[in-house]
Amino acid sequence: MELPRGKSYIRLEQISQEDIDNLISRVNSCTWRQTFHIQPVSGLLNDPNGFCFYNGEYHLYYQWHPLGPFHGLKYWYHTKSTDLVNWQNVGIAIKPDEYFDSHGAYSGSAVEHDGKLYLLYTGNTRDENLVRHPYLCIALMDDEGNIIKSKKSVLDKVPDGYTEHFRDPKLWKVEDRYYAVIGAQRTDETGAVCLLSSNDLLEWKFEGELATNLDNFGFMWECPDYFEMGDKGILIFSPQGLEPEGDLYQNIYQAGYVLGEKIDLERRKLTHGGFIELDRGFDFYAPHTMKDPSGRRLMVAWMGLPEIEYPTDISGWANCLTILRELSLRDGKIIQTPIPELQSLRKAKAEAKGELSDETKVIEGFTGVTYELICEFERGDALEYGIEFRASDTEKTVIKFDAVQGKVIMDRALSGKVIGSKHGTERKCKIAGDVYKFHLFVDSSSVEIFVNDGEEVFSARIFPDIRSQEIRFFATGGRAAFKAVKWDY
Ligand code: FRU
Repeated sequence: MELPRGKSYIRLEQISQEDIDNLISRVNSCTWRQTFHIQPVSGLLNDPNGFCFYNGEYHLYYQWHPLGPFHGLKYWYHTKSTDLVNWQNVGIAIKPDEYFDSHGAYSGSAVEHDGKLYLLYTGNTRDENLVRHPYLCIALMDDEGNIIKSKKSVLDKVPDGYTEHFRDPKLWKVEDRYYAVIGAQRTDETGAVCLLSSNDLLEWKFEGELATNLDNFGFMWECPDYFEMGDKGILIFSPQGLEPEGDLYQNIYQAGYVLGEKIDLERRKLTHGGFIELDRGFDFYAPHTMKDPSGRRLMVAWMGLPEIEYPTDISGWANCLTILRELSLRDGKIIQTPIPELQSLRKAKAEAKGELSDETKVIEGFTGVTYELICEFERGDALEYGIEFRASDTEKTVIKFDAVQGKVIMDRALSGKVIGSKHGTERKCKIAGDVYKFHLFVDSSSVEIFVNDGEEVFSARIFPDIRSQEIRFFATGGRAAFKAVKWDY
């Protein structure tokens, strides 16, 4: 059988090894393959799943369609690491091969219980009319890495009041009881989050909907995640169906959080403030967190979006995960910082500093395709200042601070191959005070920019020509001082 070319539920076993090898060699010859991001060996990656620390190692799974860059039959793919930086491809973790997951092992999460790792995931099925029927399913991983699926689903009927869009359980434990938030769509086609609970992770009780003050906020909430930091409760989710509003909600779908008091499990209520987007860039969805053994809250997300075509599609693959970010709270807001473990990737170092006076400077030694760059700015009277990177005569990606509007602006109009241009080529966000630091992680086809030590983050896939390697510093309409350090990766 030939490789599928569009949405299909063809199974990996139906394809010959020769066709798979051909696909993989097509993927490997793509110049946009990433070097320090988790990416699929072939086909499409989407949501991170089951991120956890178990038996002395970090495990991170993701949604995977092996046979091409589109959303076909989904598997859980397993990667693991001891340092959160170097990830080993382990292979398929969950195969969709039962009545309850026949059309995909969809997203979910993991928790350790009685020495085993429990993976709670969504079984996607479709009937002969292609109508979806989701199930909640369990798989168990032992300390040798063997994964066994439970033969029956743990919830096989969507509760009354909700549609077939009921998926993506995220687990946590309170004393001796396990809870899960799950993404849902009400029958009136608005998004919501529901709550489930269990003593043993095998028998689950539907508790009901989690009350928030966002009753009419998009048509579906995907991939919810609930956790606590200090005396605060945080609910992350990916709402679909929000209309753009000023600089907000510019991507096809959003990902963000509400922060407030700790969840009231008895009354199933979350008292919280407004919805805040987690990332201000172009490609960020389905974030997923875990608490590591030292107590840090770590977050990873899909650096991509549903329903967007990427230029790697013709090479047989699409998407990657973000680098890991540590979350903390400052002034009622989540702050994101790249995990310090990434510093182990640092190789050759280059440093520069200078004054910019209504000019763009190119500096000896400041070029590259994969690197980390920290640039501190001090504003004189410049109206704008920033960095152009992956640049050539015809291409550049720009991050800058516009002091007049008090906004950080990312521009990928000239970044190379065009992506999702229907949704615009600029992303902006207001920031209090001046930008004093841009911290960039640039890989072959992506950039993640941390602004002012993680107050805001802009993530984007970019697809420049391999020869576009210049880094330039600029100020317009006046003066600014800069100090930069770059490490090749
Ligand atoms: C989010 C999502 C989830 C679903 C999974 C399927 O991107 O649509 O809701 O479980 O992807 O791959």
